[in-house]
This record gives sequence, C-alpha cells and structure tokens, in this order.
Amino acid sequence: MRIIIESDAAAVAVRAATRVADLIRRSPGCVLGLPTGRTPLGFYGELVRRHEEDGLSFSRVVTFSLDDYIGLPPHHSASFAAYMRRNLFDHVDMDPENTHVLDGGAEDLLVACESYEAAIREAGGIDLQVLGIGSNGHIGFNEPGSSLGSRTRVKTLTRETLEANASSFEDLDELPRLAITMGVATILEARSCLLLALGEEKALTVRDMIEGPITAQAPASALQLHPDVTALLDEGAASRLQRRDYYRHRS
Ligand code: F6R
Repeated sequence: MRIIIESDAAAVAVRAATRVADLIRRSPGCVLGLPTGRTPLGFYGELVRRHEEDGLSFSRVVTFSLDDYIGLPPHHSASFAAYMRRNLFDHVDMDPENTHVLDGGAEDLLVACESYEAAIREAGGIDLQVLGIGSNGHIGFNEPGSSLGSRTRVKTLTRETLEANASSFEDLDELPRLAITMGVATILEARSCLLLALGEEKALTVRDMIEGPITAQAPASALQLHPDVTALLDEGAASRLQRRDYYRHRS
C-alpha cells in the first residue's frame, strides 16, 4: 500500500482531485467508484472547481456509487444519490446515463444488487475506486464482520455507523437500519483504490487498516491484499501509524 501524508484536509482534497483529473485526461471514458460522507466533500469541491475553471470534462466518465440507504426515496436529502447530485453530478457535465447509484428503494433488492454487479462488469470494471473509512473500519457499508469475499448486498448498519450518520437526518425515526453496498470483493476488483482519511478520530482505524492484521473485523484491512492502493491521509489520520517516518521517507 502506498501511504501519502498531507498537511491537512485541503491538501488531501487537491491531491485526490489531481489523481482523478489525471486519470480523466488520460482516459476520458474511465470508470470511477465514488463514496459519500464528510471526508470527500473537499475532493468533490475541487473536481467541480477544475471543471469550471480548467475545463475538466466528465462527459464520458462513468461512475458507480459505493452504497446507499435502504428505504429512503432517491430525492430524500440524506440519500447518497442526492448527495452525489448535490456535491458533484449537478455541477459538472456528467451524462446522467453514466452515473450509476444503488437503488435502496428497489422492490427486489437481490435483483438490484445483481444488476449493479452486472453493470460494473459491462462497463469493463472500475478503474479507480475512491473510498472513505468509517471509524469502525468499514469501507462502503461493509461493517465489521463482513466477509472479505462479499459482493454487492444488503447490510445491517451498526450502532456506531447510525450514530456517525445521524446528523444528516432531521427526524431520527427516519434513520435507516439497512443499507445496500458494494461488497469487499467487489471493491477489491477495482484496478486501483484511493482511500481518503481525515482527522485524529480516524487515526486508530487507519493504523488497523494499514498495519494491523487482515481481518473481517476491520474490513478496510482487506485493502492490504490489493496490489494498487493509495491511502491519502492528513496528519491527524496518520498520527497513530507506527511506521510513519518510513512512509514519509519513501514517498
Ligand atoms: C460512504 C461510505 C462510507 C464512508 C465512511 C466515512 O459512501 O462508503 O464508508 O466513507 O463512513 O464517512 P465520513 O467520511 O463521513 O467520515
């Protein structure tokens, strides 16, 4: 795993956006896997800025969102589909046909999961999967205990995840208990992965992901099995890494 430590969140956003912009310029029809959450907000802001100011075009880019809640209508402001529109899709020249989101409102969720996997295959696979990490070590909504061989499926959210995401809901009774998420094995099939983590509250989880054992109890640790992963961290998120000096000296 390549570890890059930047001074702060803004520098992480710029570096992540540069990685994606370089890929889009090299390969305008590339396939991106995209996360939601607080961590990638600066990164999406930077991509929008590059579209507006530098003419970065998303017209042929294909995207797959990592996960979404079950039971929320797509226009609900806390749905991940709405998040993607609000923070990226509505501000760039993306073709809506190319933006795939998981349908947490599908009548048959099993079919929705299988069609998502099929759509990823038909698009030729994901070139770059961007990820955040939950404080409990989840990637996507693959909560601790998720099989490292899991595919896109329904997951029950943990109490920690519900608490972490509660602020997006005005009415806590609306907070979904279930989500639909790409599986760990689906994520590992991406040709490369870029994981972003910010802040000291992620430091122990980041250490487990990079320096801990590979275990379903910390699903992000499965990224150690992937040949092309970059973890892009700010100082806070990197602060508990034991081999921090080595990562700095290497990059
Ligand atoms: C969201 C997702 C989650 C988040 C994680 C971190 O699509 O897949 O794994 O990346 O929960 O969320 P933030 O960035 O809000 O700390």
